[in-house]
Amino acid sequence: MMKNILLFTVVALVVIACGNANSGSAAMAAAEEQPSEGAKIYKQYCLTCHGLYGDMGASGAANLQESKLTLEQRVEVITNGRNVMTGFKALMSEDKIKLVAQYTFELKNN
Ligand code: HEC
Repeated sequence: MMKNILLFTVVALVVIACGNANSGSAAMAAAEEQPSEGAKIYKQYCLTCHGLYGDMGASGAANLQESKLTLEQRVEVITNGRNVMTGFKALMSEDKIKLVAQYTFELKNN
């Protein structure tokens, strides 16, 4: 479990480093208006545990395809974390958390 947290931290740091390197803010703002932004965020931050389709369950991650949580509850878990899952409030804005939370409703196997 410690190993997974370390791996996640490394991945997160790499993502942050890459993000800063090309953060043309106008381009980022434009990208945020596209519907696929939630998917991009998901692939950057959530894939390691939840998998591409939300059902991988690494580190005991919840199956997002079967989640019964409301949007608000998902936002809460993503923001503040729950048990093994660390919160993302230090890594992304509230807007982005909402986008990725919305995206979790779209996860399915194909
Ligand atoms: C370090 C691995 C890890 C990462 C990265 C991760 N999660 Fe999780 N996630 C978990 C675990 C483990 C749980 C179950 C938590 C528990 O047992 O209380 C969980 C639970 C959830 C839940 C609650 C589902 C439910 O029905 O209870 C949501 C929603 C969620 N994650 C979304 C995300 C999103 C979106 C991201 C990316 C921003 C993300 N997670 C990144 C491990 C992770």
